[in-house]
Amino acid sequence: MSQDESKRLLIDLRCLSKRFPGVQALLNVDLQVARGEVLAVIGENGAGKSTLMKILAGVQMPDEGQILIDGSPVRIANVRQATELGIALIHQELNLSDNLDVGANIYLGREPLKAGLIDRRRIAAQAEQYLDMVGLDCSPRTIVSHLSIGQQQMVEIAKALSADARILIMDEPTSSLSSRETDRLFEVIGQLRDRGVSIVYISHRLGEVREIADRVSVLRDGENAGELAKSEITHDNMVRLMVGRDISQFYVRTPHEVGKTVLRVEGLRVPGRAEHAIDFSVRAGEIVGMAGLVGAGRTELLQVLFGVDRAERGTIRIDGKLAKLSSPLDAIRCGVSLVPEDRKQAGLIMEMSVRENLSLASLRRDQRGGLLNRTAEQNIARDMIQRLAIRTPGAEQTVQYLSGGNQQKVVLGKWLAMRPRVLLMDEPTRGVDVGAKQEIYRMMERLASKGVAILFVSSEMEEILNMSDRALVMHEGRIAGELSRDQLSEESIMQLATGNILAA
Ligand SMILES: Nc1ncnc2c1ncn2[C@@H]1O[C@H](COP(=O)(O)OP(=O)(O)OP(=O)(O)O)[C@@H](O)[C@H]1O
Ligand SMILES: [Mg+2]
Repeated sequence: MSQDESKRLLIDLRCLSKRFPGVQALLNVDLQVARGEVLAVIGENGAGKSTLMKILAGVQMPDEGQILIDGSPVRIANVRQATELGIALIHQELNLSDNLDVGANIYLGREPLKAGLIDRRRIAAQAEQYLDMVGLDCSPRTIVSHLSIGQQQMVEIAKALSADARILIMDEPTSSLSSRETDRLFEVIGQLRDRGVSIVYISHRLGEVREIADRVSVLRDGENAGELAKSEITHDNMVRLMVGRDISQFYVRTPHEVGKTVLRVEGLRVPGRAEHAIDFSVRAGEIVGMAGLVGAGRTELLQVLFGVDRAERGTIRIDGKLAKLSSPLDAIRCGVSLVPEDRKQAGLIMEMSVRENLSLASLRRDQRGGLLNRTAEQNIARDMIQRLAIRTPGAEQTVQYLSGGNQQKVVLGKWLAMRPRVLLMDEPTRGVDVGAKQEIYRMMERLASKGVAILFVSSEMEEILNMSDRALVMHEGRIAGELSRDQLSEESIMQLATGNILAA
């Protein structure tokens, strides 16, 4: 940081350390943020990014170290104090109250009053402004549980904006936004920066970091690993500092024979979207990407294919046999696995250990004589922890204490351990670091070469372009088009995703 910049220094974290049982999450970490600067903080899963931000936002207390704001030392003992200092944190795991409406969430805990009562009309009117600002087209009276995760993320951002923060911390804000929503978010960030707001931006999407950051600070194993000035921010520099080595050959696709049709969907009507019939198939050894904007109906479709929701009409065939999927258990029996988008709700039991989570699904199938085979469980756990490089003090660690990306790896490991025929994946690399991403891609490739039929939903254009043998593009609840590998391009996908069917 230059001398000129240091005059504008807003936050100065010095020598922060934080220990959890069995884990040194942070060790002597320094971090400075200038006024009106976008600072990206990057690092592998478990590097300590979220912990550092939680300390700044009053969610956690450091064991040691100092926090200076505007040059004066402060103690941030709770979230309220952080808010008073103008610090707002948008959590990696969304934190909204599901059963309240959007406006109530935005003003939760600081509701405007009128004659001693909560002024709902004012909430709605003011909330609307902030929703406009982030480009979210929904009424402030919408109940949050009716929104997609991407939309919920936008509500979180609107909420932080409404608190008039001087320091806005975003912990993986785009992990479930589409490219269009991300563009909108970047516009908002640009406007905030121009108004002198400092932004701390955490992301595993290095392309985004390059686009938006003025400076990058890298953490590795809980310690400072280096810093990059604007002109030094390149993909390779970031990876080298994060991982300590180069990662080449990011996407691995080796051509192999595709076999017969494994999954065939005909005339399927997804609840809530029943006006459109959906038809497609996936063959053995094929990796089919499913693109579309957030809210296009991709998650809903996967939910039906996994027996979570029931189709209103239509058929699903697996290996030619009609599959009646009234529950996920039916789907599992038919050889279908789903790696869900929302690990907190559908993927993991937070209070159970890594070992138990990894073997929950597979043991239901391998169960012998009604007894859970503990040795088998331990073997699965050990194998998956190693293959996916899950960062945990051990297989017995409770899942809720793992970092976000490592939780995602556990979800994946759990479903991979099932050895599925059809693997459905909803944003499979959401929130995982570069190394793990590559490992997930390799695993998809390996499974495909063994004849598994893979259907994955992704909002990351690069992932769709590089990993798909074929892509289906959804728009407003229907399949707007299909693109073969040589037709795949960012333009052709966007054309279809935005409903521009004739031009595609
Ligand atoms: N409450 C907790 N109890 C025990 N261990 C914790 C707790 N919170 C975090 N950890 C551990 O501290 C380390 C740092 O976690 P942190 O969440 O800060 O990582 P991160 O850099 O945000 O990773 P990710 O990219 O996966 O989100 C990890 O090893 C994590 O398991
Ligand atoms: Mg994190």
